[in-house]
Amino acid sequence: DLGDYPHYMLKEIFEQPQTIENALRGRLDSEEATAVIGGLNLTAQQLRTIDRVVLTACGTSWHAGLVGEYLLEEFARLPTEVEYASELRYRNPPMSDRTLVFAITQSGETADTLAAMRECKRKGHPTLAICNVVGSTIGREADGGMYLRAGPEIGVASTKAFTSQVTVLTLLALYLGRMRHLSYPAGKRIIKQLRDMPSKIEEALKCNDRVAEIAAKYAKYDNYLYLGRLYNFPVALEGALKLKEISYIHAEGYPAAEMKHGPIALVDEQTPSVFIVPKCGIQPKVISNMEEVKARKGPVIAIACEGDAEVARIADDVIYVPDVEEYLQPLVCAIPLQLLSYHVALLRGCNVDRPRNLAKSVTVE
Ligand code: F6R
Repeated sequence: DLGDYPHYMLKEIFEQPQTIENALRGRLDSEEATAVIGGLNLTAQQLRTIDRVVLTACGTSWHAGLVGEYLLEEFARLPTEVEYASELRYRNPPMSDRTLVFAITQSGETADTLAAMRECKRKGHPTLAICNVVGSTIGREADGGMYLRAGPEIGVASTKAFTSQVTVLTLLALYLGRMRHLSYPAGKRIIKQLRDMPSKIEEALKCNDRVAEIAAKYAKYDNYLYLGRLYNFPVALEGALKLKEISYIHAEGYPAAEMKHGPIALVDEQTPSVFIVPKCGIQPKVISNMEEVKARKGPVIAIACEGDAEVARIADDVIYVPDVEEYLQPLVCAIPLQLLSYHVALLRGCNVDRPRNLAKSVTVE
């Protein structure tokens, strides 16, 4: 049911304050300053002995996994690897008996993710799922895991599932972190920030009209770069993927500093760069990357924190998002990028809900 929305994609983008709230519901324990995670089917002792995590997925879910890697390594100090499921299923990486595997998937039916999961299970690793569709093959075959509770995602381009995956991975990192090095006050702080997320997402969505204006100015370009660092590097990859899949525009995501190792050769007046540059420890470095693009006459769209005058001085156009802790920036920064791809696709006459050549769940190899 579309309600008042013209497309499922837009409806699902606007559902995110609610879907993130659903992902958090009943899963925050302020008293113990940790997450409540029921379905892992592993004891605290078993979880405590885990010394490595492998996250496997495809596409957007793989991008969420990349955010998960940063979270798990920062909060829980657990060495984490993110593997394309299509690669992992045919590779044979060394994995100790203390390696915990997660398959991340919206549909729970992606053939490569399922095969990678089965391969890990066969080798005896505890294999869990972070999955949206209840009763899906991956949901059923996993040893346990967490559901996203995002509701049906109809638009072929994944939007709300991404932010729910990132939310659930944050809960997981908090939970595993609190069994290890994360202090009580640090856990409390994370919980407080998480509770605020639905309203922060609500605030981020207010950029929609501004994004539509910017889209009108930029829809004519055929090549884009998306650049961000640390937690916002996966967001750059995700923004580029959204633009590719529904607008059929060539877009590449890179860690902003990698630009000088090749992609900067692409910069010219016809190649806009989308910088994800909210306030963070290394923001000055990202700003200097932005200046390098401007110096080569590249148009710059920036995603920045409300009131950031320094970014506004350099970028041609700025889209503002609320200021949140660094590890939560992927959630707020994904919103304007989803909207940008949506508006550009509309302006180019594309079918946003059913893009060419794509299927909602990829059940073939
Ligand atoms: C991108 C997109 C795909 C999926 C990928 C994995 O918008 O929808 O890249 O993310 O096919 O699908 P799931 O998460 O269902 O395993």
